[in-house]
Amino acid sequence: MTEPTRASRPSAARAATIADRCDELAAVTSMEGGIRRVYLSAEHARANTIAAGWMEQAGLRTWQDAAGNLHGRVAALGADGDPRPVLLVGSHLDTVVDAGRYDGIVGVLMGIALVELLGGRVHDLPFAIQVVAFSDEEGTRFGKALLGSSAVAGVWNDAWWDLVDGDGTTLRDAFTAFGLDPARVGEAAVDAGSLAGYLEAHIEQGPFLDRSGQALGVVTSIAAARRFSVEVVGEARHAGGTPYEMRHDALLGAAEVALAVERTCVAEQHIGTVGTMTVEPGAVNVIPGHARLSVDLRGEFDGGRDRVWDALVAEFDRIADRRGLTITPTEVHAAPAVFCAPRLMDAVRTGIRATGEPTPPELFSKAGHDAMSLGLVTDVAMLFLRNPDGISHHPDEFVSVADIALGLDALVAAVEALAAAEVGP
Ligand code: GLV
Ligand code: MN
Ligand code: MN
Repeated sequence: MTEPTRASRPSAARAATIADRCDELAAVTSMEGGIRRVYLSAEHARANTIAAGWMEQAGLRTWQDAAGNLHGRVAALGADGDPRPVLLVGSHLDTVVDAGRYDGIVGVLMGIALVELLGGRVHDLPFAIQVVAFSDEEGTRFGKALLGSSAVAGVWNDAWWDLVDGDGTTLRDAFTAFGLDPARVGEAAVDAGSLAGYLEAHIEQGPFLDRSGQALGVVTSIAAARRFSVEVVGEARHAGGTPYEMRHDALLGAAEVALAVERTCVAEQHIGTVGTMTVEPGAVNVIPGHARLSVDLRGEFDGGRDRVWDALVAEFDRIADRRGLTITPTEVHAAPAVFCAPRLMDAVRTGIRATGEPTPPELFSKAGHDAMSLGLVTDVAMLFLRNPDGISHHPDEFVSVADIALGLDALVAAVEALAAAEVGP
């Protein structure tokens, strides 16, 4: 029997369907001319309904959990009728503002296609497969990222209920408006003892694979992250009449904060970004009296990231003293570095080798992922797909159908390798 060509393999047709479904979900947006789909919104509900339909077509039994994540499970019971360990496979359906159409989404759809490609073999695995579409990875609405997967990992923090979105709606009220009960969020937590691990496929969101000319990569670890909202308070005064020595310009203080973030992170080989800044009162002839900006800080290890943050805070204090300002950072998100589990990385390596790549590249993820939350309760691993030019969090974000097909072949082979390793020789 001859080997089917790449294009005629079942994964090629599934990959084309995944690309079409990414287009379909891209239309579920709250933003004119772009993609924005945030936690606990009408678009979140719509995306869950659409994805649940695809899961059911693939034979998965679906439900939405107490934090708005969508799940679909197959082969839940073993031949003896007892529940089997559960291999979670997933990613997220929420987006940043003016997003691309593949970040997170392609990983969820690959989980569904994995089940389709396994077909009847899914019942021969030593674990059930549960595809999860996490509801909030990006933190676009409330600033705190990984809300959906934190609920599933059972690490929900009640302090988050008072987080507010840009319209002043609290997370608690948004839960209720979505039809969820804040008092029941704990029910979204999985029983860690029932898990066989978590696998996530995701586009790379950087240029490493593209530059190395390889379609797929094995993730070794995910960057430690912290996010802050920094308030800069000065004094609003007349733009004409106020001499320079009397000014306490909050915008100029905020600009110095942003430059300090870049300078310190470059020197310390970390990654820091100021992604938002607002200035008040916001008039052409008034010195800004108030500014607020975000700082997103990432590093390979928690300790290094925290030392860089301490150095930044000392720098902010110097800026505040020199300009007569008050600069107050508030932490809105923190996630420790997560190291992928050797046994799952081995399975992903085997999966990539099965696609014809003898030496799968390995890389550290500077982007955050739902695997960070799951890594607190179970073994995790990630398969990265080439992202041409590395552009992501932008409408030009892309992954080719051919690379999705390779990713599917690798994912199926990885799950089979994991099953073989669990069952033993
Ligand atoms: C999510 O994509 C993040 O890395 O912030
Ligand atoms: Mn993502
Ligand atoms: Mn993202």
